[in-house]
Amino acid sequence: MDDATLQAAADRLTWFHSMELRPAVVTKGMKSRDLLASEVEAVLGPLDLGGRSLLDIGAWNGFWSFEAKRRGAGRVVAMDHYTWRHPDYRGREAFDLARAALGLEIEAVEADVTVLGPDFGRFDAVLFLGVLYHLEDPLPVFRTLRALTGQVLVLETHQDMLDCPRPAMAHYPGKELAGDETNWWGPNPALVYRLLARAGFARVYYQDHPVYGRARGVFHALPEATPGGVLPEAPAHWLDLGAPGALASLVVGGGRATA
Ligand SMILES: C[S@@+](CC[C@H](N)C(=O)[O-])C[C@H]1O[C@@H](n2cnc3c(N)ncnc32)[C@H](O)[C@@H]1O
Repeated sequence: MDDATLQAAADRLTWFHSMELRPAVVTKGMKSRDLLASEVEAVLGPLDLGGRSLLDIGAWNGFWSFEAKRRGAGRVVAMDHYTWRHPDYRGREAFDLARAALGLEIEAVEADVTVLGPDFGRFDAVLFLGVLYHLEDPLPVFRTLRALTGQVLVLETHQDMLDCPRPAMAHYPGKELAGDETNWWGPNPALVYRLLARAGFARVYYQDHPVYGRARGVFHALPEATPGGVLPEAPAHWLDLGAPGALASLVVGGGRATA
């Protein structure tokens, strides 16, 4: 397929991720390449993915799976459900087009993370980016995430209830959040921390989103208390949420966290 034909094929589809498929072929996604570059640094920057297995839950067009593979990951599994089957988004078609154009060996699994069984397996790294608030019943998924995670889980989410000193989550019964009726919840960092800890993660690091600030959060959660392996070292600017005063320091307006 020549560049013009590939670009035309891409332009017939809806894209979430802006990606360079070839030097002259770029997908026109809702997320710009600059935004994705900032997120890559925050999400994958400190990870040593060489030869590691990785599960990308909510992969949509596959940007994160492709990026992990480029960074040397071994087995990479891209999983999605809603947008892959959606007649307008046609997410699986877009993923397949990008994967073929990039020539990367990525497994695709069409599945709903909320019904994954314990036999799905364990991955050195698990990405759960922009998915939490799309789950109508998100609490049980934390145990699933723990079961899936060998060394590090990266969870990125929209946040709300930031002035509340207690673990809390706002509910959006309609289209309150971004006009999207599939957005159900807005947790604060204390709630995400409590749920990760209850599910069995021993260490949770936090950073504000590199572009949206505290409106979104990036959490790196480890089953073990000390970094190593996929996460050789926690960057100095990450906040260890288990440290005294850490959660309180994130409350907007100076309330006292009691998580
Ligand atoms: C906001 S997009 C995030 C895409 C990508 N992870 C990123 O951060 O750039 C959310 C994705 O999660 C997927 N998703 C939502 N609920 C899901 C579920 N229960 N199981 C698997 N994927 C789901 C959606 O289909 C959509 O592709």
